[in-house]
Amino acid sequence: MDNFSFCTPTRYVFGHEAECKAATLCHEAGWKHVMIVYGGQSAIRSGLLDRVRKSLGDTGITVTELGGVKPNPTDDKVYDGIALGREAGVDALLAVGGGSVIDTAKAIAAGILYEGDFWDFYCGKSTVEKVLPLGVILTIPAAGSEGSGNSVITRLDGLRKLSLRTDTELRPKFACLNPELTYTLPPYQTASGIADMMVHIMERYFTLTEGVEVTDRLCEGLLKAIIAEAPKVMAEPENYDARANIMWSGTLAHNGICGCGRREDWASHFIEHELSALYNVTHGAGLAVITPAWMSYVGERRPAKVAQFARRVFDVTENDDSKAAMEGIRLLREFFHSIGLPVSMKELGIENPDIEKLVGKLHENKGPKIGGYLSLEAKDTEAIFNLAR
Ligand code: NZQ
Ligand code: ZN
Repeated sequence: MDNFSFCTPTRYVFGHEAECKAATLCHEAGWKHVMIVYGGQSAIRSGLLDRVRKSLGDTGITVTELGGVKPNPTDDKVYDGIALGREAGVDALLAVGGGSVIDTAKAIAAGILYEGDFWDFYCGKSTVEKVLPLGVILTIPAAGSEGSGNSVITRLDGLRKLSLRTDTELRPKFACLNPELTYTLPPYQTASGIADMMVHIMERYFTLTEGVEVTDRLCEGLLKAIIAEAPKVMAEPENYDARANIMWSGTLAHNGICGCGRREDWASHFIEHELSALYNVTHGAGLAVITPAWMSYVGERRPAKVAQFARRVFDVTENDDSKAAMEGIRLLREFFHSIGLPVSMKELGIENPDIEKLVGKLHENKGPKIGGYLSLEAKDTEAIFNLAR
């Protein structure tokens, strides 16, 4: 096991009416003027936004609002938010939504106190030092941004989708998670979120680091639980316990606990980010396509951990590592299909992918080599895109 330092300073408030605690948490933190950041229609339609606005007002907090954040969020909204927040003089942010809303709020939180262009943080020109504090009311379990120190934004100029990773700076001060708020999710979003959280675990699971039995078992246990709960939420969208288990899994998948002491992989995410940047597909659905293709490629060359995944997560009994690995991948694809997800670019609606462009942008953005479990160059990532067709 590698040395590590792990700090997750976020307070998680979980369960029925969790969102009602947000105003008190803002008030206790001494926030006086909060910018609520939200997405399209879902939080308006459900009445959530009205309730949040009112509860902040009732505690004497001034509110400024920035709505209209779209999935696969773009830099234009961040610039709007920075300008609005500076003009209004906000001292904190409250993201009401999913990964796209939270990531936009994080970018604003960092950008507002920075004299240069916030994009400097994403393209590695500068590091985040000072940020406005941020709280979250989560409405979709998927990206895990409510517990992560990361934010992913797409620059419209050139469609570059890049992630900013921080240790603790961008981790929310609190995250309110009420599983009931997820009852209104369309099935495709529920399923895509499930794929995303599974892959967050798998990006950490596939490692060459040895002696990591505890985190291996954490990963396997979470994956098994998600696979068991997923059909329940798909069949009964208002099954509280199933929704609750999926929601908490999404946070545990990405707050860092599964990755302690081990080198992580992240190739599937880097590859998928090019798909969602270029074709604007839902990130989790893109991962349901890319990750099994990635596993087939690495499973042929380095089957051991893929075989362990197959045996321990999908109960494959095959003794031969290569055969076990392939059987595990088949079962993973079958699982994704069973919850209504695509497993090929064609099923994702991309009939003629521009693979040359995807590979070119991938390595321009992420460097000549990606991946911790198996190092991949352009010829390898091109093969993976082709396997995902
Ligand atoms: O915009 P509204 O109307 O709110 O609709 C949203 C959106 O269309 C809808 N939705 C959310 N909550 C709902 C709801 N609809 C009905 N009822 C509810 N309760 O769901 C749609 C998707 O929302 P989005 O925020 O885009 O989803 P998600 O949480 O999957 O976030 C995806 C983004 O996060 C990034 C992805 O790349 C993508 O850009 N990621 C961020 C990470 C991080 N910061 O740590 C890590 C991830 O790997 C990921 O890359
Ligand atoms: Zn993800």
